[in-house]
This record gives sequence, structure tokens and C-alpha cells, in this order.
Amino acid sequence: MTTPPITRDDASGLDRTLRPQTWEEYIGQKKTKENLRILLTAARERGHAAEHILLYGPPGLGKTTLANLVAKTLGTNMRITSGPAIERVGDLAAILTNLSPGDVLFIDEIHRLSKSIEEVLYPAMESGVLDIIIGKGPSARTVQLELPPFTMVAATTRISLLSSPLRSRFSGGTFRLEFYSDDEIATILERSASLLSVETNREILERIAKRCRATPRTANYLLKRCRDLAQLEGGTLSEEIVEKTFGLLDIDDLGLTAPDRSVLEAIIHKFNGGPVGLNTIAAATGEEPSTIEDVIEPYLIRHGLLERTPRGRVASPSAYEHIQNL
Ligand SMILES: Nc1ncnc2c1ncn2[C@@H]1O[C@H](COP(=O)(O)OP(=O)(O)OP(=O)(O)O)[C@@H](O)[C@H]1O
Ligand SMILES: [Mg+2]
Repeated sequence: MTTPPITRDDASGLDRTLRPQTWEEYIGQKKTKENLRILLTAARERGHAAEHILLYGPPGLGKTTLANLVAKTLGTNMRITSGPAIERVGDLAAILTNLSPGDVLFIDEIHRLSKSIEEVLYPAMESGVLDIIIGKGPSARTVQLELPPFTMVAATTRISLLSSPLRSRFSGGTFRLEFYSDDEIATILERSASLLSVETNREILERIAKRCRATPRTANYLLKRCRDLAQLEGGTLSEEIVEKTFGLLDIDDLGLTAPDRSVLEAIIHKFNGGPVGLNTIAAATGEEPSTIEDVIEPYLIRHGLLERTPRGRVASPSAYEHIQNL
């Protein structure tokens, strides 16, 4: 027996193979898509670089994918960097001066840029110039470099951490990505299943869609886990396989995972349903406050299980019901 060649199939590879390549393949987010279509088409017709765009929303909803589509539509290259990768002003200067005219500069996790970098970014975004200070003390002088016209596309899971001067520089618009409907997710999964050569049907994909926290990345991940189990059990991707996979992954019928439930349980059992502060919940559950805020909480809020009040987080009656029925 020959061993099949090993090909890369990790999570990041999966993100790339399943990533939509066209606007048609990019399901949902209708308003954002429509606004971008107008902005990008108009810029392209004028022969100008499009204005800067800010995308925000919970992880896995399609920000990076959308940035790729923006570059594709403009017919230009996309340069990718991220907030934490730009440590010094020199890093930013190197990136900006190496752009070709019309390029898209994608900055992921823009909320993690330092203040000093932000200040260099303002004139670059607004007037296309880079102010560099040469020397120190009284002999220091500023040199201004003209930059090629470019479009910045920035992404963040934490819009509230962006300073308002930075936010105001995204003159092309700020777009919030929404959670997906079950129907949209099922459509995304149909494409993924066909790319992964998984034989299944719409009904089964709808089952997966109900449990993916309305997030395409999670849906694709679950499909892949179901496929693995189906393969081991020597069959097709059936209802039983799907249910068994959810059991193994400890995903309940609302799609909540163990960390999601532990947040709700802590609020209900330890803090009498709340209100309770974020840091207290973090200490009680062992999760990072940022993970709770970025990843866990948005879906609980959207599902009506959790409320954010000025005095802290409160578990809703449906959260009580869900936790009690487990
Ligand atoms: N609208 C969509 N239609 C189809 N598939 C999508 C869509 N949005 C996202 N996906 C799928 O989900 C995966 C994750 O999307 P993406 O990497 O763009 O999310 P993100 O918002 O950038 O997440 P993060 O905040 O973690 O960087 C993509 O590789 C793609 O397969
Ligand atoms: Mg991303």
C-alpha cells in the first residue's frame, strides 16, 4: 500500500481553500457588499485609489475575505500587515514607501497600533504624505515624503478601542459585519462541502448551520470535523455523524461551547445572575477578559442570553432556562 502524499490541511490552509474568491461566493452582508460595490466601482471608473475602509465585527465573520475582494475588484495588489506587527515608525514607513500606486494596504487588528504610529498614519491616510523626523533635539527636522496613492482597509474586532481621530480617517466608510442567518450559513456550507468533496445534503448542512454561532469560520470547522468522523466510520455525512461530532466537541443545541456556558454558569450560579463586571467574570472562569469580550460575549448577546448594562453583565431568563435544561 502506498502512503498518500501529505498536503497542508491545517486551519489556516482551510481558511484559504474555502475563502470565497468572488462577490457571488461571498454570501450575506448585503448592505456592506452593496456599499462597497458602489465605492469601488466609482473609484475604479475615476481611475483613483478608493478611499480608506474600516471593517469591524467578531472573529470569523469575513473581514479578511472582504479585504481580499476589495483588492481584487480594484485590480490591485494587497499588502498585508497587522497592528502588533508595526512596532516602530520605521516599520510603517517601510511598508508605506514600498506600496505601488493604487495598492490596498490591509492592516488587521488595527486597534493594536500604538499612539505614536497612529500619529504618523494620520497624514499618510489624509494627504498621502509621510512625515519623518530626522535627528534629535534642536537640530531635528521633519522631512516630508510623498506616498503613492493607496487604499487602506483596516479590520478590528474591537472598534471601541479605536481613537476617534483614527476612526474619522476612514473616509470610504466604516462597516460592521453581521452574524449570519442559518440559511446563509447553509449556503456557505454547500460550497465548502463541494470543495472538500463531502457528499451530503442541505438538511444536514442546516443542522450544522444551527450550531456554528452564526459564524462561517466555525461552520467550516464543524463541517471538517464531521467529515473526519464520517471518514473514520466509513460512511457518508449523516445526521448521526453530525450529532455525534457535536457531542464529541461538547457543542450544545444552541451551538454554545464549554467556555460560552461557563460564562453563563458563572454569572448565574456565582453572581446571582448579575450585574457583574467583565474582570470578575474573567477571574471566575479563567478566560481572558478580551476573549470574553471579543469572542464569547457577542454571540451570547445576539442570542439574547446575555445583556450588557452600565453596571455589568446580566444573564437573561433564556440563559437560566438554557443552563437549567443542560
Ligand atoms: N460571507 C462569506 N461567505 C462565505 N464564506 C465566508 C464568508 N465570510 C467568511 N467566510 C469563510 O470564513 C472564513 C473566515 O473568514 P475571515 O478570515 O475573512 O474572517 P475574519 O473576519 O477576518 O476573522 P478574524 O477576525 O479572526 O480575522 C473564510 O476563510 C471563509 O471560508
Ligand atoms: Mg481576519
